[in-house]
Amino acid sequence: MLVAVVATLFLHEILTPLEMIGGMVVGGAIGAMLARRVEMTSMPELVAAFNGFGGLASALVAGGEVARYLFSSSAAQTLSLDPLSPVTAVTIVLSVLVGMVTFSGSFVAFGKLNGLVSGNPISFLGMRLLTVLLVAGAFAAMGFVVWGTGDFPSVSEPVVWGLVALGIVALFLGILLVIPIGGADMPVVVALLNSYSGLAASATGFVLNNTALIVSGALVGASGLILTKIMCDGMNRSLLNVLLGGFGGEADTSSGGPVTKGDQQVQPTTADDVAILLTYAQKVIIVPGYGMAVAQAQHQVRELTDLLLEKGVMVKFAVHPVAGRMPGHMNVLLAEANVSYDLLFEMDEINGEFDSTDVSLVIGANDVVNPAARHDTSSPIYGMPILNVDRSQTVIILKRSMRPGYSGIENELFFAANTRMLFGDAKDSITQLVSEVKGL
Ligand code: TAP
Repeated sequence: MLVAVVATLFLHEILTPLEMIGGMVVGGAIGAMLARRVEMTSMPELVAAFNGFGGLASALVAGGEVARYLFSSSAAQTLSLDPLSPVTAVTIVLSVLVGMVTFSGSFVAFGKLNGLVSGNPISFLGMRLLTVLLVAGAFAAMGFVVWGTGDFPSVSEPVVWGLVALGIVALFLGILLVIPIGGADMPVVVALLNSYSGLAASATGFVLNNTALIVSGALVGASGLILTKIMCDGMNRSLLNVLLGGFGGEADTSSGGPVTKGDQQVQPTTADDVAILLTYAQKVIIVPGYGMAVAQAQHQVRELTDLLLEKGVMVKFAVHPVAGRMPGHMNVLLAEANVSYDLLFEMDEINGEFDSTDVSLVIGANDVVNPAARHDTSSPIYGMPILNVDRSQTVIILKRSMRPGYSGIENELFFAANTRMLFGDAKDSITQLVSEVKGL
C-alpha cells in the first residue's frame, strides 16, 4: 500500500519528496506509538480501527476523484482531465460504498470490543426494513452518480451531492450490519471488514488506474476472506450464521458461577499439589487460552515447560484455532516467549493424544475445552470442535473464578471428577508452580 501511495504521489508530482517524508514520519510515529501501547488482548480493536481508516481513505480518494472535476476552476482545466468512463464511475461508487461501510462497521466493532458499545446483539423493531430501504437508497444514489458522470466534461453539483448521500447511507448501513452481531463474533467481523477494506482499496486502484493498489487491495481482500473462513470453520459456524446469529453477548461477570452442578462439586487444588502431579507425570499437555493472554503469563509458562522437560517429562502444547481473541493469538504469545515450535500442536494433530496424557494443564482456556460442544445440542457452542482435555487422567484448570468464558456459558468440565481448579491469576499461579517444581 505504502509503495503504491508513494509511487502515485511521486509520479504525479503531487507532493515533494520532503513533504512525503514528513507525512511518513508523522503517520509512522502515530502508528508505532499505537502499536507499542496496545495490549496484546486489544489487538483485534487496533486491527478494527486500522481497517476503518483504510475504508475511509479509499472512499475519500474515490470521492476526491469526482471532486476534481467539480472544482477545476475553468472549462479548459476540466477538459485537460481524462473523461470519467462508466467503468471508472462504477468503481468510484463501489469504493465509496464499501469504504464507508467498512469505516462505520469497523468503528462499531472497535466499540463492541473495547466496551464502548454493548457487546450484546442489538436490534430494534423495523431494523430489517430500514436495512432494505438503505440498500435501495444506496443503489439509487449509485445509479444517479454513474448516470450523472456521463455528462462529461462537466460534473454537476447534484452528482457530487449524490455521492455524499451515498457515503452517508453507507455509513448507516455499516452500523446496521455490525450492531446485531454478538460480541463473541467480533473477531470474525473484523476479519471480514479487513477483507472489505481491501476490496475498497482495490476498487480505488481502478479509479486511479493504479495497478499496485489494485493488486495489494485484492491481496488484503482475499486474505481477509480466507481468514474469515478459517475462523468460521474453527467455530463450526457458517458466515451467514455469524452475521445473523446474534451469538454470545456479554457474560454477566459480576458474580462468579456456581460451584456445584447437581451432586458434582468443584474441586479446588493448590500449587504444591499441582507441582507434584506435573513433576511425576510422564506426559503433560498444556492448553493455553485467552486467560494466558490477559495474565501475560507466557514467559512463566515457558519457564515451567523448560523445568519439566529438564526433569524428563514429555510436554506438548495443544493450540485450538480460536483460542484467545484473534487467529494465531496463542502462537504469537508462545513465540514471543520462545517456546519451541516443535512443542506446538494443532487441534487435529493432538486430539487423539489426551487419552494417554497424565495431566492436561488448561491455562485460561474455557470455551475451547468445553465438552458440551460435543454432546449438548442445546448449547450455543454445540458442534464447535474442542480439545478433548477431559479424556486425560487429570485436568488442572488455571483461572481466577467460576466466571464463564467469552460465549458466556457454564463449563461442565470444571465439575468433572478428574478436574482440579487452581484459582488465581494465571501468571501468579504459574510463578508459584515454577518455584514449587524447582524445589522438588
Ligand atoms: P474463553 O472461553 O474466553 O475463556 C477465557 C478464560 O480465561 C475465562 O474463563 C477467564 O476466567 C480466564 N481468565 C481471564 N483472565 C485470566 C487471568 N488473568 N488469569 C487466569 N485466567 C484468566 O477463552 P478460550 O477458551 O481461549 O476461547 C476463546 C473464545 O473466543 C471462544 O469462545 C471463541 O469462539 C471466541 N472467539 C475467538 C476468536 C479467535 S480467532 N481466537 C474469534 C472469535 C471468537 P476467569 O475470569 O474466571 O479468570
